[in-house]
Amino acid sequence: ARKHRIAVVPGDGIGKETTPEGLRVLDAAARRFGFELELTHYDWSCETYAKTGKMMPDDGLDQLRQSDAVFLGAVGWPGVPDNVSLWGLLIPMRRDFDQYISLRPCRLMPGVRSPLANRTPAEIDFVVVRENTEGEYSSSGGRMFRGTEREFVTQESVFTRTGCDRVMKYAFELAMKRPRKKLTSATKSNGITFTMPYWDERFAEMAKAYPEISTDQFHIDILCAHFVQHPDWFDVVVASNLFGDILSDLGPAVAGSIGIAPSANINPERKHPSMFEPVHGSAPDIAGKGVANPIAQIWSGALMLEHLGEHEAAAAVTDAIESLLSEGGPRTRDLGGNAGTLEVGKALAEVVGRG
Ligand code: NAD
Ligand code: IPM
Ligand code: MN
Repeated sequence: ARKHRIAVVPGDGIGKETTPEGLRVLDAAARRFGFELELTHYDWSCETYAKTGKMMPDDGLDQLRQSDAVFLGAVGWPGVPDNVSLWGLLIPMRRDFDQYISLRPCRLMPGVRSPLANRTPAEIDFVVVRENTEGEYSSSGGRMFRGTEREFVTQESVFTRTGCDRVMKYAFELAMKRPRKKLTSATKSNGITFTMPYWDERFAEMAKAYPEISTDQFHIDILCAHFVQHPDWFDVVVASNLFGDILSDLGPAVAGSIGIAPSANINPERKHPSMFEPVHGSAPDIAGKGVANPIAQIWSGALMLEHLGEHEAAAAVTDAIESLLSEGGPRTRDLGGNAGTLEVGKALAEVVGRG
C-alpha cells in the first residue's frame, strides 16, 4: 500500500483536543482508500519549554525533515511569551522548510450561517494566498534604544524579488485553475512608501504573463471593509505575510467561524515537508473543555491528503464536512450547536469511513 510518513505535533491548548480528531478522520480515510499513514508523535509544546527551556530539541527540525508532511495543532500558551513559543516551533518550520505559501481557503459552507445577512455559499468562496517566510515577519534588523524618554524600537520588513515573485506566481497559477480566474492583491502603497510600491510593481509585472486573469488591488484597510461588505468580489487574494494573516482570520469570521478554517504551509518544490494546521490558535479560553470545533483541523488534514496525492480521500473528507454541516449533524458552540469536539470528530470519521 502507499505509505506516507506524518509527523504529528499537537502543541498546546485545543491543539491537543483537535489533533486526535484530525487523526481519527485521516485514519478512516486511509482505511477506506487503501493507504497507510505512518505517524510519529512529538509532544513539543509550551510544557516542553517549561521543562527544558526549549520548545523543541536542538535537532527538532531535522527530526521532522524525515517526514512527508507535518500535522500541527496549535502553539502558544499563557506563561510563555508568544514570541518565544511561536518563534521556537511554528515559525522555524515555516522558514526552515521554506514553506513560502500559506494557503487559506475561506468558504461559507452550506448549513452554516454567515454573520453577514443573506449571504449564500456561492457568494463566499475565496482563497487567501499568504506569503509565509518574509515581509513583515522578517527577523532582520531589529534595534532597540532604551533608557531615555525617547527610547525606540525598530524592525525591518524584507521583501525580496524572489519572495514576491514566487508567491504571486503561485497565486496566478491557482487563479488559472479556478472558474472565475480572478486575483486580488492586498497592498498599502499609499502609506507604506517603500515595500508596498515594490510589491505592486512585482504584481503588475507578473500580471503580464497571465492575460486571462482579471486582476485588481486594494489597500488593506478598505480590503478588510470589502471582505465584509462584498465577499462575493473575491476569488484568489494574494497578500504579504502580515496582511495575509489578518485577512485569513477576517475571511473565516465572515464565513461563519474561525473554528472551521484550515491552512496549508506549502513548500511547492517539495524539497522539504509541508505543514498543515488550522488557522486558529490554542484558544486558552475554551481549552480542556472538549468544546473546540475540530473541523479546522480535520479540513487541514484534507489539504494534507491533497498534497500527498490522495485526491479521492481528500475530497471524501471535505464532502463529509459539507454533508455534516448541511444535514444538521452535530456542531460545536461556535456554530451555534452544543456538541463536543469528540462527537463531531467521530461523526465525520463515520461518514468518511462509510463512503
Ligand atoms: P485563537 O485562535 O486561539 O482564539 C481566538 C478565539 O477563537 C477564542 O475565543 C477561541 O476560543 C476561538 N476559537 C479558536 N479556535 C476555535 C475552535 N477550533 N473552536 C471554537 N472556537 C475557537 O487566538 P488567540 O486567542 O489570539 O491566541 C491564543 C494563543 O494561540 C496565543 O498564544 C497565540 O499566539 C496562539 N496562536 C497560535 C496559532 C498557531 O499555532 N498557528 C495561531 C493563532 C494564535
Ligand atoms: C497564524 C498565527 C501565527 C502567524 C502566529 C501565532 C505567529 O496567527 O498562523 O495565522 O501570525 O502566522
Ligand atoms: Mn493568524
